[in-house]
Amino acid sequence: MNDAPDTRSRLLERFDLIVNGPALFNSLVAGIELGVFDTLAEGPAPFEELRARTGIPVHQLRVLLHALCATELVDKEDGRYANTAVADELLAGDGPDSWKHILRGWQEIYYPAFPHATTALRAGTNTALDGYPGTEPTLYQRLSHDPEREAVLHASMSAFTLQSMSGLLDNIGLAPGERLLDIGGGDGTTARELVKRFPDSTVTIFDLPSVVALAEEGEDAVAGGRIGFQGGDLFEDDFPGGVDCVLFSHCLEVLSPERILTLLRKAHAALRPGGRLFIYGFTLSDQERGVYSARLSLYLTVLATGQGLAYPVGEYERLMREAGFPTVEAITGLPYEHSLMVATKA
Ligand SMILES: C[S@@+](CC[C@H](N)C(=O)[O-])C[C@H]1O[C@@H](n2cnc3c(N)ncnc32)[C@H](O)[C@@H]1O
Repeated sequence: MNDAPDTRSRLLERFDLIVNGPALFNSLVAGIELGVFDTLAEGPAPFEELRARTGIPVHQLRVLLHALCATELVDKEDGRYANTAVADELLAGDGPDSWKHILRGWQEIYYPAFPHATTALRAGTNTALDGYPGTEPTLYQRLSHDPEREAVLHASMSAFTLQSMSGLLDNIGLAPGERLLDIGGGDGTTARELVKRFPDSTVTIFDLPSVVALAEEGEDAVAGGRIGFQGGDLFEDDFPGGVDCVLFSHCLEVLSPERILTLLRKAHAALRPGGRLFIYGFTLSDQERGVYSARLSLYLTVLATGQGLAYPVGEYERLMREAGFPTVEAITGLPYEHSLMVATKA
């Protein structure tokens, strides 16, 4: 089969980027860590200024700047280097939603796992987990033995969650006084944004005890006591009951359909009649093209849990009905390949 000429040139361009991706990705992280993007956020700079600011030798800086120019996120013009607007927006600065935290987590945790892909796919299990201390079956549990890497993972997930939060906040519509249970709520990033956007609501985070401890550390004054914390295991422990809403944000895609069904049934039992269930996260399109979803599914399968996928919306809808929810709605096409699915308990 021949590709049409414009398809062929687009595919060749993608091929060039994909095969050189690890070099370009890691040069971005080096550029962040050495302060190149922060320096250029102040304005275009010549080589010598970047040398003074980064403190690295001439040859090494030449190599780094060449790689950054090859990404096209840094421009070189008239002997001066400059951030593009996208580099200014995404790669300079240090806020909690910064890509700096996201890329560090991908570099330290996600990407070292991917060379294990063939082995893990053949073995049918997450063999990349062998590099982590402990005997538990998931990365999340094993990281409780490695607080430093646990904090890196949660800072990375938290920053990505903030980047992709608008699709949830703009569509969830909590009514005043509603109590929401955030299952697998991580370090509390989602809970804090929810109580800021819906000041009369309360949120309880349910997650592993070591993770809930991270969330408690991060609770800020804005929350004003409206965030509760419950440490436990999703499968071993009961969810708090009688709640108005249950949210799974980026939580179900880490599991197999059988385990998702178990949790949806637990959520159904925890909700009051008329209560709502929300599932927010990555979903797979019919054409199966999303790059963010592909990266996530591989990371989960090779390393984090050995199961899980950015499931298609239809698969979640089927599971929600099977768990006892008669009505299900989906809002698709949200940023970063996300969807929000809403079901109401009879
Ligand atoms: C991908 S993170 C999502 C975090 C957060 N909801 C967000 O949107 O950023 C999945 C969360 O599920 C939690 N988790 C995984 N397995 C768990 C288990 N068996 N019991 C309790 N929490 C678990 C992890 O600790 C992690 O915080």
